[in-house]
Amino acid sequence: MLRDTIHDQLVLAHNLHKRRAISPHSADTLIGMTVAYLDHAATTEPGRRYKRSLLEALDLRPGLTVLDVGCGPGTDLPGMVAAVTHPPSRSGRASGPEALCSEHIYASPLSVGRVIGVDRDPGMADEARRRCPSSVEILVGDAHELPLDDASVDRARVDRVLQHLADPERALAELHRVVRPGGTVVLADPDWDTLAIADPDTATSRAYTRYVTGHVVRNATIGRELARLLHAAGFAVVEVVAESILFTDYAEAEAILRMPDVARRGWESGALDPHASRAWLSRLAAGPFVGGFTFYTVKAHRPAP
Ligand SMILES: C[S@@+](CC[C@H](N)C(=O)[O-])C[C@H]1O[C@@H](n2cnc3c(N)ncnc32)[C@H](O)[C@@H]1O
Repeated sequence: MLRDTIHDQLVLAHNLHKRRAISPHSADTLIGMTVAYLDHAATTEPGRRYKRSLLEALDLRPGLTVLDVGCGPGTDLPGMVAAVTHPPSRSGRASGPEALCSEHIYASPLSVGRVIGVDRDPGMADEARRRCPSSVEILVGDAHELPLDDASVDRARVDRVLQHLADPERALAELHRVVRPGGTVVLADPDWDTLAIADPDTATSRAYTRYVTGHVVRNATIGRELARLLHAAGFAVVEVVAESILFTDYAEAEAILRMPDVARRGWESGALDPHASRAWLSRLAAGPFVGGFTFYTVKAHRPAP
């Protein structure tokens, strides 16, 4: 999760744009890597846990319209489809040939809501379309200028997107515009200032965190700012949850945080000492590994007039 956060779009999207100029095949491969990263992050225990919490906090019901800003490959869209779609009626069992299939049940969607995913990256949008039911509307669009009408959605989620944006305040103003009065939004983002990796060379651990916050993630402390920014945008904040994401397995941490890639970039740019950083990486890989960061989820309403 973190890594998709850290490198997820900063490193990979940055590289993606560079590679697009070189070869569309390279770009496809890199999109695949990013999707694989997001997929993996979503299957980790903390990833599953906070995504479940976000879905519950959205309080979805059949018939509602729900928006996922920065939907990526559509990981969270099918769960939202299920939640805004009335369950099939069990009263209309088939009596003809269909009855041979004991599981055949007539669907009677009394109330079918709308699920809309928006992502700036056309590759992500394509992947989301490939994975989601055709009823899901996937739009290529920018969080700073959402391609949606005023007050057109009942619920919205923004999951690990604001940390990457050029202007989070503008994105929240857009969110406020498209969510109807009385509607609910849920947001999630990490606070990379809190990234703490245990090692006897505390100075290198701190330098690594400073490199991440200063050079890898655009809005590295956005997690702690979510409530303040939502309030400033006109939302009423109802809940702020901070949880510690802890890794005690090096391979799992590396899959998410990508310490070797990030540290290498750090010493190549002169921000980290190469000798100390290589020794630091070796010790981390040898274990035992302990490291983590704080992850924020916030729920808010657009006040009704
Ligand atoms: C870390 S991924 C999270 C994806 C998804 N929300 C999830 O939880 O799996 C961030 C996503 O935000 C998208 N994104 C970045 N900047 C954006 C922008 N300005 N407008 C819309 N989407 C953006 C990226 O393309 C990427 O798919």
